[in-house]
Amino acid sequence: MHSLSKLFLAALSLTTLAGAHQQSRAHSRHRTTVRRQSTNKIYKIQDLYQGEDFFNDWNYFTGSDPTGGNVNYLSKSDAQSKGLAYVNDCDNSTVLAVDSTSTVAAGGKRDSVRITSQKSYNGGLFVIDASNMPVGCSTWPSFWTVGPNWPSAGEIDIIEGVNDQTTNQMTLHSGTSQSCTIGKSNSSTDQFTGQVLGTSCYSTENADAGCSVEDTDTSSFGYGFNNADGGVFALLWDNSTGMSMWHFARADIPADLTAQMPNPSTWGTPAGFWSSQSCDISANFYDHQMVVDTTICGNWAGGSAYSSSGCPGKCTDMVANATNYVDAQWVINYIAVFQ
Ligand SMILES: *[C@@H]1O[C@H](CO)[C@@H](O)[C@H](O)[C@H]1NC(C)=O
Ligand SMILES: *[C@@H]1O[C@H](CO)[C@@H](O)[C@H](O)[C@H]1NC(C)=O
Ligand SMILES: *[C@@H]1O[C@H](CO)[C@@H](O)[C@H](O)[C@H]1NC(C)=O
Ligand SMILES: *[C@@H]1O[C@H](CO)[C@@H](O)[C@H](O)[C@H]1NC(C)=O
Repeated sequence: MHSLSKLFLAALSLTTLAGAHQQSRAHSRHRTTVRRQSTNKIYKIQDLYQGEDFFNDWNYFTGSDPTGGNVNYLSKSDAQSKGLAYVNDCDNSTVLAVDSTSTVAAGGKRDSVRITSQKSYNGGLFVIDASNMPVGCSTWPSFWTVGPNWPSAGEIDIIEGVNDQTTNQMTLHSGTSQSCTIGKSNSSTDQFTGQVLGTSCYSTENADAGCSVEDTDTSSFGYGFNNADGGVFALLWDNSTGMSMWHFARADIPADLTAQMPNPSTWGTPAGFWSSQSCDISANFYDHQMVVDTTICGNWAGGSAYSSSGCPGKCTDMVANATNYVDAQWVINYIAVFQ
């Protein structure tokens, strides 16, 4: 759904994107069991993004929203001067907010923030600890990673959803090799707890739904996440094993992660798992930068998902009213990469 390349974005057909996402959600849901090999390894911290680092180590995307949202993505200096990107003195958390004070015309654009890590990665354990995510009708928050020349170097959506969605949707978008699906073998005791929405990860401008797994835990997204004081999401990207994703409610965060000595093989069944046996990980995913953003309406939140979510009126009218965005903010305790 997302892309880093502004050139590519300009050429992208937004209507086909919207169609693809709806297609993904229309897939029948079923529980899947796959083999998951454990790599018994204690990961070491490589990069900790916390406090003022968010303002030094991330770039601010200022192009028009590639997903057609009703947002103006602000530069670093504008985001800071308008109070939409700051560090809380009391707890060192980083806030990335949607403007919740200005009146905007219906169908207009509201200020928001989209940041991209300057560093890129080729594997490891990616962790975000947040106490709040943007919520409510018309919002579309996401924490994801993406490589160059989308979709050839792939995309990994770790946190994503729209409107009043109650559970998190995790998605891989694979590039040109096409050998990437969610495996369906029953052969191991290892499982993942989420529900498969689409099995083919291959994505193009015309068919970019990717392979999604929806978390079953209502503390994994939206108001449920925020009411639980948030929690942690982790992506373990291991070329030889596959991609695993976990969500932990705050009370369930593994002690080894809190101690910055995580051993994910002790963490239990992940919410989502994409096995290297059914997906050529190293061919499809490389040189990924991390992205945190919030858009409004756009292809997914503003499409048929808007009315089907039970949200009132039209999405593009929602944007006019500042009070709809009081809770549309990320409050991030830290983002860390371990290797
Ligand atoms: C905020 O986080 C940074 C990075 O971990 C750390 O260096 C700094 O000491 C923290 N500040 C406070 C007030 O805790
Ligand atoms: C996996 O196990 C379930 C339940 O035992 C069964 O219904 C299903 O057919 C199995 N799938 C495969 C691919 O073996
Ligand atoms: C994973 O594969 C990518 C792409 O081929 C490669 O650049 C990277 O070094 C591999 N990562 C590890 C940890 O081997
Ligand atoms: C703005 O939104 C709030 C909350 O949804 C609602 O109570 C209020 O009536 C709206 N105001 C206008 C002018 O639409």
